[in-house]
Order: sequence, then structure tokens, then C-alpha cells
Amino acid sequence: MIEQQIKSAVRDIPDFPKPGIVFKDITTILKDPALCEGIIDAFIEKLKGIRIDAVAGVESRGFLFGLTLATRLGVPFVPVRKAGKLPYSIKQKAYELEYGTATIEMHTDAFEPGQHILLHDDLLATGGTVTAASDLIQEMGGVVSGFSFVVGLGFLKGKERIAPISNNIIVLAEY
Ligand code: PRP
Ligand code: MG
Repeated sequence: MIEQQIKSAVRDIPDFPKPGIVFKDITTILKDPALCEGIIDAFIEKLKGIRIDAVAGVESRGFLFGLTLATRLGVPFVPVRKAGKLPYSIKQKAYELEYGTATIEMHTDAFEPGQHILLHDDLLATGGTVTAASDLIQEMGGVVSGFSFVVGLGFLKGKERIAPISNNIIVLAEY
């Protein structure tokens, strides 16, 4: 089953990027093309019945499966980028990190108002990143129709945080 396959492939890195954090390294998943395909298949299966006009993926690890997922769904992919990377007219959102703030940006013509957007990232931790991305999508007139993550860290309560935005929350491997 996909959850076990993902958990077998993910590599735990203790004390990265700082002491006390066990980092979930997904680069070990990327070395296994059959598993990558299985992940996309699992997303497609679980997303059935949800309206998705575009998939937005969050830089950088949200790009890895986000584009493939969008392509398999037959919809556009929208990159949500960190500040200063997108060349055209942009809208931005600052959000709180554990220490300091970060800013994400999208092109103003990334999607049409009223479109339903699936927000994808590799991993759900506190939910701060996708909450900021959701705010941005909503401010641009979009509807967040769901979330998809390869990995979720349940103990950080990200699902609880994002559930008011959309209850369609797909996490393939929950820790
Ligand atoms: C990680 C991860 C998610 C986010 C999850 O990205 O890829 O995007 O943190 O954390 P949260 O739910 O608490 O917001 P990171 O900011 O480390 O950058 P990267 O994807 O570029 O490696
Ligand atoms: Mg990330």
C-alpha cells in the first residue's frame, strides 16, 4: 500500500536543519520512478469528485509532484514562488515562520477568478505555508478546492489549521 511504500522510502535526518528536528527527506522517494508513479496514481484516485481547474504547487518541493499531478489531471500548473523570482506582474503574501517572516508570490494572471485550485505541497507541517498560499489564491478570486500532500506531520496539527479552508485534505503518508 502506498502509505507503507512512502514511509519505507522517506529518510529521517535527525537534527536537521537544527537540533531536535527530525527532517523528512523525500529525495529518496524521487530515486524510485515506480513509487513516484504510484504517488501520482494515489492522488488521482483520491481526488476523484473534486473540481480542479488548476494545481498550484509551492516552491520548491511542491513543484516535484505538483506539475506531474496537474499534467495527469489535464489542468494548468501554477507555481507559487518565494519572493523575487517571478518576472511578470505579481501578488504577494507575507506569513510568519517560527523565526521571522517569509513571502510567497504568484503571477496575477496565474488563473481566472472563480477557478477552483488544488493546492499541492510535498509535506504538511504546521500548515503555515499552504495557509498563506490559500490566502493569496482567495485574494486573487480563486477557490481552494482541496489540498494534497505526500507526507503529513499529524502532531503539528496542520490539518486542523487548514480544514476551515477546505475539508478535502489528502495526505498519503501520515506521521
Ligand atoms: C517545507 C515543506 C513545506 C513546508 C511545510 O518547505 O516543503 O513547503 O516546509 O511547513 P509548514 O506546514 O509548517 O508551513 P521549506 O520552506 O523548507 O522549503 P522548500 O520546499 O523549498 O525546501
Ligand atoms: Mg516547501
